Amino acid sequence: MEGTPSLRLPGEHFAAAIVFLAAGAAGLVWIAPELAAGLYLSPHVAGVTHFFTLGFLTMTIFGAIYQLLPVALGVSIRSERLGHVSFWTFAPGVAIFAAGIAASVPALRNFGVALVSTGIVCIVANVSLSLPRARERGVIWAAIAIALAFLASTLVLGLVLADSLRTGALAEARVRVLTVHLHVALIGWVLVMIVGISHRLLPMFLLSHGANTRWTRRALALLAAGVLALAAGVLCGFVDAHRTVQGALTWAGVALIEGGVVCFLVQARLLFAARMRPRLDAGLRHVVLALVCIACAAGLGPVVVLMGADHPRIDVAYVMLALLGLALYATGQFYKIVPFLVWISRFRHEMGRRKVPTVAELYSARVSNAGMVSFLLAMIVLLSGVLLGEVIVVRAGALLFAGGVTVFISQMARVACARRAGEVQS
Ligand code: HEM
Repeated sequence: MEGTPSLRLPGEHFAAAIVFLAAGAAGLVWIAPELAAGLYLSPHVAGVTHFFTLGFLTMTIFGAIYQLLPVALGVSIRSERLGHVSFWTFAPGVAIFAAGIAASVPALRNFGVALVSTGIVCIVANVSLSLPRARERGVIWAAIAIALAFLASTLVLGLVLADSLRTGALAEARVRVLTVHLHVALIGWVLVMIVGISHRLLPMFLLSHGANTRWTRRALALLAAGVLALAAGVLCGFVDAHRTVQGALTWAGVALIEGGVVCFLVQARLLFAARMRPRLDAGLRHVVLALVCIACAAGLGPVVVLMGADHPRIDVAYVMLALLGLALYATGQFYKIVPFLVWISRFRHEMGRRKVPTVAELYSARVSNAGMVSFLLAMIVLLSGVLLGEVIVVRAGALLFAGGVTVFISQMARVACARRAGEVQS
């Protein structure tokens, strides 16, 4: 196995992701009136959305890729320096881009997009140069390759959308391209990466050995094919294809994506059922909540296709469930990965020489579980508020979500500040 990179590379990504999660949670409170009104085309909504999508989810996945390549594929990243260049263009780029969209300032938006694009091109190149050297060419390898192709497509569609915000070039096709952009991004990039990463991390965290893990491969194949069919169906409108062709491709895409989500949920269920320890820790409870949200979003998908155009609040509920569900999944993984990395770097070599805390003692399980309950209530209240169109209810849900994020950040800070036994806090 080639060496794991210094912790600085994944560490700076995870730290920036947490900052963007905080910005996204604060933004959610701010855009509550637009969410309650179903105004998903509002620049405020698009701005806040990218704190979550680019700032938290994509940033976290980038950090995880640098950690995962050596551990799961036995190959280290091609260039750690290029990894830092990617980070130092992508992170400020996301902040400037999201602010530029929210404030409708084209200069900011375009400068942000240029930095974001540079960051994404750097990591896609860096990982693409590493994958051919990997010894392991299984489902995780395939998931990373598929997801990176969808990330590149997300960027191209995003650039077209960003340009159209300035020129209006897309005109009535804007919602069509936006629909493809967000499904390619949320399913093709984020969910496919989560399915791939979970194939390695869930058995490790659950200590579930011997479970049937063939459902991951099925999930990946169905999700990738589904996103392509859905994109073709939705974009068919551009070429005036016959409505039957459009409809058939769109519904084939929906069916394949639903099949892919079901395969992923079955895989997770099998791994949870085969776990050694019956009690679930805080991180895994966040993962369970996230899986429930992802299942609900998948359930709402066909309803959106059938009714969405005339019911914008259903569209908002659907994207919100999917996006915040994926964010909760990443939060659950943070509770597993970050304490482990801190323990390895700070306490492993002290073992046997002095009393060291366990990984679980680096944060408070009671407080983290309270944070999970806040997230659970937040999802129920947010969803009800959006479907009812009640601003005050949506805002209450957003405040509960911000409460859950505050607890999460407090625990991650506690882990990051964990000190060796007997060392004085400065
Ligand atoms: C890679 C760089 C990206 C660029 C340049 C970009 C650009 C954009 C733009 C300009 C819009 C607004 C479109 C409009 O209102 O007409 C938008 C909307 C959206 N994007 Fe992205 N995007 C990017 C990445 C992503 C990623 C990675 C995700 C998800 C993981 C994502 C999810 C979304 C969603 C959910 C919306 C709809 C938000 C709303 O309702 O206003 N985007 N994107």
